[in-house]
Amino acid sequence: MVPDWKSLFRGSAQPESSGFTTEIDPSRLPRHVAVIMDGNGRWAHARGLPRAAGHHAGMVAMRETIRAADDLSIGAITLYAFSTENWKRPRTEIQYLWNLLEEFFRADMDELVERNVRVVFIGDTRKLPSYTQKTIAKSIERTKDNSGMIVQFALNYGSRAELVDVVHRLAQQVKDGTLEPDDISEEVVTQCLSAHCVPDPDLLIRTSGDKRVSNFLLWQIAYAELYFLDEMWPDFTKAHFYEAILAYSKRERRFGGLK
Ligand code: FPP
Repeated sequence: MVPDWKSLFRGSAQPESSGFTTEIDPSRLPRHVAVIMDGNGRWAHARGLPRAAGHHAGMVAMRETIRAADDLSIGAITLYAFSTENWKRPRTEIQYLWNLLEEFFRADMDELVERNVRVVFIGDTRKLPSYTQKTIAKSIERTKDNSGMIVQFALNYGSRAELVDVVHRLAQQVKDGTLEPDDISEEVVTQCLSAHCVPDPDLLIRTSGDKRVSNFLLWQIAYAELYFLDEMWPDFTKAHFYEAILAYSKRERRFGGLK
């Protein structure tokens, strides 16, 4: 049965964002934006709604964020949708998230294709339900030749698990005699990471007021600009996204060097 709250929040009003977009210098856009979409549960709780309502509204915000990023011609966006730690949640909530993923791809796939978006995934998706794995495979296949923005979903993703996997693979290559320990460099490690098809994030956005990085892309965000805001993820609008990009475009990045 479809709960009542669904119709309330589907396509919830996203304030028009003009104003910010004209201020953004196109030559100072981040190439890759990573997003920790946090606060769905608190958003729902504050409204006396089930957590699922928060996730559904979060899916709507995610859709609008993808559109906003593509409209700005951002090269890639990574969305933290399910962490390796999220398995600690009740089964019903986890199940709801997989169903939401189905709903998202059913409703949005055509638009993603129209936008020339390429969909990719990071994280161990082999642990996901088989129907989810099929949806993932279909979305990868259908968009693999697209040359526009890369939308990277992090599912059952944890940065430490990803790094342990890299260490295993490099150790195996050393054991096999195909790699010398001295040849292990930052580039070699980067090549082994699952997210190597996109550049490192230039900007990391986290909603909900918490100021932490929660095991997300720890290697890749070494020099990322961090942007935290108090809004819960379902309240995150295109205007917030453009505000974050504008703030980023004004920051001075030195990468440890001098100006
Ligand atoms: C964190 O908020 C959010 C998640 C664990 C799920 C993110 C999912 C979406 C944005 C919807 C799209 C989903 C998929 C699978 C495509 P929280 O629940 O931890 O919030 P809280 O900290 O307030 O409890």
